[in-house]
Amino acid sequence: MLIKKAVDIPSSEITPKNVYLNRRKFLAGTIISGAAAVAGMSLRELAEPTNVLKDVSNYNNYYEFSTDKYEPAKLAKDFKTQPWSVTIDGQVKKKQVLDVDTVMKMATPEERIYRHRCVEGWSIVVPWVGFSLSELIKKAEPLPKATFVEFTTVLDPNHMPGQRTGVLDWPYVEGLRMDEAMHPLALLCFGMYGETLPNQDGAPLRIVVPWKYGFKSAKAIVRIHFTDKQPVNTWNKSAPNEYGFYSNVNPNVDHPRWSQAKERRLGEFFKRPTLMFNGYDQVASLYSGMDLKKNF
Ligand code: MTE
Repeated sequence: MLIKKAVDIPSSEITPKNVYLNRRKFLAGTIISGAAAVAGMSLRELAEPTNVLKDVSNYNNYYEFSTDKYEPAKLAKDFKTQPWSVTIDGQVKKKQVLDVDTVMKMATPEERIYRHRCVEGWSIVVPWVGFSLSELIKKAEPLPKATFVEFTTVLDPNHMPGQRTGVLDWPYVEGLRMDEAMHPLALLCFGMYGETLPNQDGAPLRIVVPWKYGFKSAKAIVRIHFTDKQPVNTWNKSAPNEYGFYSNVNPNVDHPRWSQAKERRLGEFFKRPTLMFNGYDQVASLYSGMDLKKNF
């Protein structure tokens, strides 16, 4: 994983905008490097360049808008992400409904450069902005029964054309085991490339779980629910033999219809080998003793 300060990003990779105009834009000084916060960073990974914003924000999986990766940028352009509230409920002491701006102020935002590997075989490297999901979870004070966290995406068929189709069961739901959600790498994300998240990338709030296939990283979250039951995630519901609950990036477990051994980095021609846990070896201990072929 490569982590660098916002000031190190080549200017070609940053969209020039007036950062003072919108409270959701980030003052350069408020983003700190996540290096200190994230354990187990390995230098080997520092060589990987980030993709450029233009590419990342014009090639999206966002089925609420379209199944065509080139369309969410256009179709989500006028989607309203303000006002936006997030409900925190279930097995938790502090059940509450929070404005997204309050959520964003719960901890200091950091820039985290993560590999992001889609189950379909492409990957990108993105400088996200956010803080560890654990910061929010700690503040919510989960009860001992809370062994899983479920994330629900907004349901708004009037403004999300994909939700007027039956391509998936809406709203989009994802889930993590509590120890996964508490891992410092799991990111509560509200920006990228030093800016507010583009709508097509999940504004105003998403999660990013870099050691799992991209579909675990739910966009446009409106509910964070603490539970003692393993959530039924949308893709698992849609095709249980193809998409599991865990969905850890694993080159040794193929998708029933294609190999997962390699991936194509957006903008590159040759495929590269996919790494176990997407290269984030520091999460391996979360799964010790588990059969990852069965728990795919
Ligand atoms: N979240 C919602 N709500 N809807 C989606 O269709 N697609 C997932 C994930 N989160 C999806 C979602 C998939 S399959 C991937 S690969 C990533 O978002 C893509 O994130 P990106 O467009 O920011 O690269």
